[in-house]
Amino acid sequence: MSKLWGGRFNKKTDPLVDKFTSSIGYDYILARFDLISSIAHAKMLGKTKIIPVKDSAKIVEGLKSILNQIEKGKFVFDKKAEDIHTNIQATLEKKIGRVAQKLHTARSRNDQVATDIRMYAKNEIKNLKFKIKNLQSALLDFGKKNISVIIPGFTHLQHAQPVLLTHQLLAYVEMLERDKERLSEAYKRCDVLPLGSGAIAGSSLPIDRKYVARLLGFSKIAENSIDAVSDRDFVVEILADLSILSMHLSRLAEELIIWASPEFSILELDDAFCTGSSLMPQKKNPDVLELVRGSTGNAYGNLIAFLTTMKGLPLAYNRDMQLDKPALFNAAEGTIICLEVLCGLIRTAGINKNQALILCADEFLCATDLAEYLVKKGVAFKEAHEIVGKICALAYGKKIFLSEVPLGEWKKYSARFEKDVYQLLDSSASIKSKRSYGGTSPLSVKRQLSDWKRKLKK
Ligand code: ARG
Repeated sequence: MSKLWGGRFNKKTDPLVDKFTSSIGYDYILARFDLISSIAHAKMLGKTKIIPVKDSAKIVEGLKSILNQIEKGKFVFDKKAEDIHTNIQATLEKKIGRVAQKLHTARSRNDQVATDIRMYAKNEIKNLKFKIKNLQSALLDFGKKNISVIIPGFTHLQHAQPVLLTHQLLAYVEMLERDKERLSEAYKRCDVLPLGSGAIAGSSLPIDRKYVARLLGFSKIAENSIDAVSDRDFVVEILADLSILSMHLSRLAEELIIWASPEFSILELDDAFCTGSSLMPQKKNPDVLELVRGSTGNAYGNLIAFLTTMKGLPLAYNRDMQLDKPALFNAAEGTIICLEVLCGLIRTAGINKNQALILCADEFLCATDLAEYLVKKGVAFKEAHEIVGKICALAYGKKIFLSEVPLGEWKKYSARFEKDVYQLLDSSASIKSKRSYGGTSPLSVKRQLSDWKRKLKK
């Protein structure tokens, strides 16, 4: 395959160098964007009369037919091409002849690839946001279905206070919303057109960058040609956003793994979303969730790899930057499948309501409510905490429930205890009392649910 350069070379490239520098193995993914941006560029060259209108039309027609082939899956990528840009240029030359050579006027692969990757990024952000929203909807529906289920809330993975299961699921919906917001922010940075910056310095030809931006749906054009071809901040930013998103998915996966373990067994995973053991016939394993959790390493790895690649590069374009693509493609694809599979897993999972009741029979979960009971009767919280702590110690020592401690004993610690204190030793009463804004009361959780329903409809 002929290269896009070579005039000043007296020797052929060493085959090992061809192999080492080639990016067609991964940048073929940009083919669609490369064609669409080339079509816009060719139209601009005609409109500005930099090339004759009839040449521009011929080039556009040729590019469109390649695009058509690609969309039908009929295009065969040339493994010997240096990159996707070379591959498409060579194909166009074969298709329409010498006139194809006018396409690369006032353009370098430096601004071309920066444009393609921004188009890819914009598209992928939309895709990611859509998948995140699907996962939020799955969590919402699951929460709605199990609105009455109370579980022990944990801190330090120790029983803390009763919470509604739905309240906990909605915590993940909040995290995912911030992930979407971060990606929307990154989108703004991607939405700037580099094309027309040439290799570094711009062009001496009367190009119309705003026209190209309009054709390609970019809101802005890059202000500085050197920055335009050197900037990969937007890639780093997306990788960082995907790392945070992956961290959230990993926490959710871990949570579900714990809930599905026999010791907890409040979550029942569908057979279709589990795998088995080759040796132990009884096993049903949460491998899907484990792989989601494990994929976080991939997301972080891509961020650190490419962030390090960019460190210390002098302006402007350097070939190191070609490595933005494997990192970005891998992170985006890896995250999308995690989002999809989690969505399916949650939509098919069930809650073991009896088991949730058994776990919530732990009366110590309501210890904080006992302290707040005393606060309502005028005791300072610190003192109330101490009193209730001592009563808990007493019950733990005697291996009895708090409800088995006679009222006389309670009164030894505080005269303010009355027999209504026993009503507090109930997780259902506990959650009902958490009426503060954002708390776990059914009222508050139902409000969150309906707010989210409305927000996600938009
Ligand atoms: N494959 C290259 C990349 O992805 C395209 C740009 C090459 N530019 C150059 N001056 N060698 O970065």
